[in-house]
Amino acid sequence: MRNFKNILVTGGAGFIGSNFIHYLFEKTSFKGNIINVDKLTYAGNLNNLKNIEDKLGNRYFFEHIDICDKEGIDKIFQDHSIDCVVHFAAESHVDRSILGPKEFIDTNILGTFNLLEVARKYWLNDNKSGKDFLFHHISTDEVFGSLGETGYFYEDTAYDPRSPYSASKASSDHLVKAYYHTYGLPITISNSTNNYGAYQFPEKLLPVMIGNIVNEKKLPVYGDGKNIRDWLFVEDHCSAILKIIQKGTIGETYNVGGENEWTNIDLINVLCEKIAKIKNKNAEHYKELITFVKDRSGHDRRYAINCDKLKNELGWKQSVNFSEGLDLTIDWYLNNQKWIDDIKNESYRDWIKANYENR
Ligand code: NAD
Ligand code: TYD
Repeated sequence: MRNFKNILVTGGAGFIGSNFIHYLFEKTSFKGNIINVDKLTYAGNLNNLKNIEDKLGNRYFFEHIDICDKEGIDKIFQDHSIDCVVHFAAESHVDRSILGPKEFIDTNILGTFNLLEVARKYWLNDNKSGKDFLFHHISTDEVFGSLGETGYFYEDTAYDPRSPYSASKASSDHLVKAYYHTYGLPITISNSTNNYGAYQFPEKLLPVMIGNIVNEKKLPVYGDGKNIRDWLFVEDHCSAILKIIQKGTIGETYNVGGENEWTNIDLINVLCEKIAKIKNKNAEHYKELITFVKDRSGHDRRYAINCDKLKNELGWKQSVNFSEGLDLTIDWYLNNQKWIDDIKNESYRDWIKANYENR
């Protein structure tokens, strides 16, 4: 088993990255240090890590750096003797990638390339001393394209990305694999399904819907609402990542999934019912807010993943069932109004206005 001492987490102020930092420090016996490199885009929020900074100042370090900044990243590797990279940093929202793909190309492709170049240099130095080194790349099931009513994505399914977001992630996956095959850089990759849980920026389906239900605003459902996503509790994704960085086979890809497919409309109905119970209201009152709006361009119909490799080879299993996970998530959003208010700054409000209001 590999035990790393200085883990560089990129994008650690975002949704999954911050959950991963909480998970490592609070729910595992991890003894090392974490260096969180984040550009703090609209999606990066240091409030996600406030108690970690307060409690673990001697083992947690935040560096406000763009992954495209080669000198900055080089200095991080040098100053912190990085032996593992867990690369979350990305532009992550499909709708934004349709409106403006450039940042997706810059961060997801060029930023990953930049990290790989610096990692390769330091790995070559370390390699001489025989120490473990790993570059773990976080990716998505969206690189595989869209499924019909049946079938699953496997690790060897051909890539077929459809949105600028998924195309940029596919490109970064290929680069990471190329650095393994060409230079021997020790890498692993995980392709995960849709995550849900605390600290998710309220532009993605679950936090948008929870917020709108509570505030009795329209619930914008794209198209016919029958698109299917496979939902995974974010902490279960984090436990999968830890298993892969500790025990995954170098050069390999692992699919991570919730084995939990829902149409968007069914899921929104469940959210209405759960929140109605908490608020002592009639669920029908919330369901009347459901509003079918113009579909997303190129909207992928169905994602579903087979993650037998992760389960059989590495012994991973999920710890939270969907109903519990939804309860925890709804609870978190209801109890963290200040977190929501804090991110609702000017630029966020402009974005919401342009894209979600009055549709
Ligand atoms: P997020 O948008 O919540 O967070 C992204 C983080 O990256 C933010 O903190 C942001 O400030 C940072 N960042 C963006 N550009 C940067 C740059 N140039 N330099 C440094 N930092 C930068 O995203 P997320 O949902 O936490 O996703 C994390 C990773 O997981 C992404 O790579 C995404 O593709 C992948 N993924 C997400 C999901 C999901 O359901 N959210 C599913 C599968 C895979
Ligand atoms: P999203 O959370 O953006 O994740 P992704 O597109 O990466 O899967 O969207 C999940 C699904 O929910 C997707 O089919 C689009 C749909 N959706 C809506 O119907 N309404 C919304 O307001 C949002 C944000 C998403």
